[in-house]
Amino acid sequence: MLVPLRIIIHLGCFAPLIWLATVLASGDETALGSDPIKEIEHFLGYTAILIFCFMFVLGIILQLLKKNQYQILRRPLGLWAFAWALLHVSSYFALELGLDFSLFISEIVNRPYLIFGGIAFGILTLMAITSLPQVKQAIGKKWFTVHQLAYPAIVLAAVHYYWSVKGITLAPIVVGVLVAAIVAWRIKMRKG
Ligand code: HEM
Repeated sequence: MLVPLRIIIHLGCFAPLIWLATVLASGDETALGSDPIKEIEHFLGYTAILIFCFMFVLGIILQLLKKNQYQILRRPLGLWAFAWALLHVSSYFALELGLDFSLFISEIVNRPYLIFGGIAFGILTLMAITSLPQVKQAIGKKWFTVHQLAYPAIVLAAVHYYWSVKGITLAPIVVGVLVAAIVAWRIKMRKG
């Protein structure tokens, strides 16, 4: 059962990239709206945060169903969330800032919502690196501590998202409520 579920997760997380590639390959300049670079950036960031949220939601569902042997499926979701966040950050760096590294750093330092995103991305990167079997083995029990940082990371990513959106829209509010529920569940589990 684990193998088919793993395949579904990989296909589901890869599918948005196929969609984006198809749209870009179609050459239809209107398909991505009036500002295609921003649209690409947003699409990549949005997919990253959705997959990241789903990683926690799956963990909670499996806990409720007492199917904890499937918790291992959260690993590919975490790695996909990192991959999409990497694409999101890279699209900003390459398409919007023209690969200007000093501008990239000064933008992050000067825009508080980017500091939040930057820290979240740093944590996702750390989690991805420590997921490598050799690194996981080498750091032993510290692995658990590192992966607990996923909670601050999802909160920081949600704040980054909410802050980046101009005006009040439904999607960041829904993500915010979902993240609050994820954190509340974690606190409840720790107490109980
Ligand atoms: C160094 C790290 C990061 C940088 C530089 C960055 C940069 C940006 C920028 C420039 C925007 C668009 C703001 C605008 O429209 O003017 C944005 C939006 C967004 N970012 Fe990030 N980001 C980072 C990390 C992350 C991470 C780790 C996530 C999620 C896991 C994320 C998710 C999002 C989302 C969901 C949006 C809004 C997309 C939408 O409007 O639909 N970002 N980010």
